[in-house]
Amino acid sequence: MADQAIINEVGLRDGLQNQPVTVDTDTKARLARLLVDAGMRYLEPVSFVSPKAIPQMADAAALTPLLPQGDHLHYTALIPNLKGYQLAKEAGYPTVALVLSTTDSFNERNLRMSLEQAAQSCEAIIAAAREDGIATRTYISGAFACPYDGPVPVSLPQQLAERMFAAGSDEVAIADTIGAGNPQQMKAIMAPLIRDFGAERFYVHLHDTRGLAAAMAWEAADLGVRKFDASVGGLGGCPFAPGATGNMATEDLVYLLESCGLNTGIQIEGLREAVALAAEATQRPLGGRILDWMASQEKQGKTPCLW
Ligand code: COA
Ligand code: ZN
Repeated sequence: MADQAIINEVGLRDGLQNQPVTVDTDTKARLARLLVDAGMRYLEPVSFVSPKAIPQMADAAALTPLLPQGDHLHYTALIPNLKGYQLAKEAGYPTVALVLSTTDSFNERNLRMSLEQAAQSCEAIIAAAREDGIATRTYISGAFACPYDGPVPVSLPQQLAERMFAAGSDEVAIADTIGAGNPQQMKAIMAPLIRDFGAERFYVHLHDTRGLAAAMAWEAADLGVRKFDASVGGLGGCPFAPGATGNMATEDLVYLLESCGLNTGIQIEGLREAVALAAEATQRPLGGRILDWMASQEKQGKTPCLW
C-alpha cells in the first residue's frame, strides 16, 4: 500500500476569513459537501472568534450541524482564546486548533496578547482540552517570518513547539503564515523537531505568497511529515498578516504528493466543482496550476492524463 498522507482542507476557514464577499452558510455547507465527495476527510470548516474581528466566521455554530457527517470525517475548529475553546466544545468539535505566533507584535495584532500571554493561554486551553477529551493542535504561526518584525530565528518556532508539546498538545503545526520561508529553513526547523518528537505529530501549513509552498511541502514530506493543510483553489490569506496570500492550493498539493507516490485519497477531478463553487461564492478567480493545465489539455481536445 502506498504511503498515506493527510490533507486537511482549511479553505472554509483560512480561505474565507479574509474574503470581502460574505459567503452564506448554505453555500459553505455545499462547498464542504463537494470537498468530502472529492475524498476529503480532514477539514477545518470554522473558527470561533469574535464576529467583530472576523465577520465571515460569525456563522460557525450555525454551519457546524450542516456539515457532512460520518465516522471517517475529522473536523477541527480554530480558536483564539478560552472563550473560543468553550464555543468549539459546545459545538461538539473533537479537535481544536490553537494559535501561537512567534513574536509579540503578531500575537498582539491577532490575539491581543503578548507572546508570553498567548503561550500561557494555549497552555491553559490544552489543559482544559485534556480534561475534556478534546484533541489539540497548536499552530506556531509566523514560524518562518513575522509579518511585522520580519525573519525569526529557527530556534524560536522550535522552542515554542517544545513548550506546547510539554503542555500536552497532541500535534503542532508549523505555519508559514505569510509564505516567506524556503525549503532550507523548513529542514532547519523540522529536522530536529522530528528527531525529538516524531514526524507523525506535525502538520505543515503553507501559504504560497512567493511560489515556494510546493518546494517546502516536498521538503517536509521528504523529512517524513505526512500531514498538510491546504485550501481549495488556493483561496485565502490572514487578515492580521499583511501580504499573506492563500494557502497552497489543495489540488496542487494532491498532485505533488500523489505524483511522488503518497496516497491522499482525494480526486483532483472531484475538486474542480469545489473550486468553481468557491470562485463563484467569493467572486474571484481561483484554482491551482494543475487545473489550468487540465483545462488547457481539454481545450486541445485531449483528456488530461495526470499520472
Ligand atoms: N469568539 C467569539 N467572541 C469572542 C471571542 C471568541 N473566541 N473572544 C472574544 N470575543 C468577544 C467578546 O465576547 C467581546 O464581545 P463584546 O464586545 O460583544 O462584549 C469582544 O469579542 C471583545 O472581547 P475581548 O475579550 O476584549 O477580546 P479582544 O478584543 O481582546 O479580542 C480576539 C481578541 C482574539 C477575540 C479577537 O480579536 C478575535 O477573535 N480575533 C480573531 C483572530 C483570528 O481569527 N485570526 C486569524 C486566524 S489565526
Ligand atoms: Zn494560514
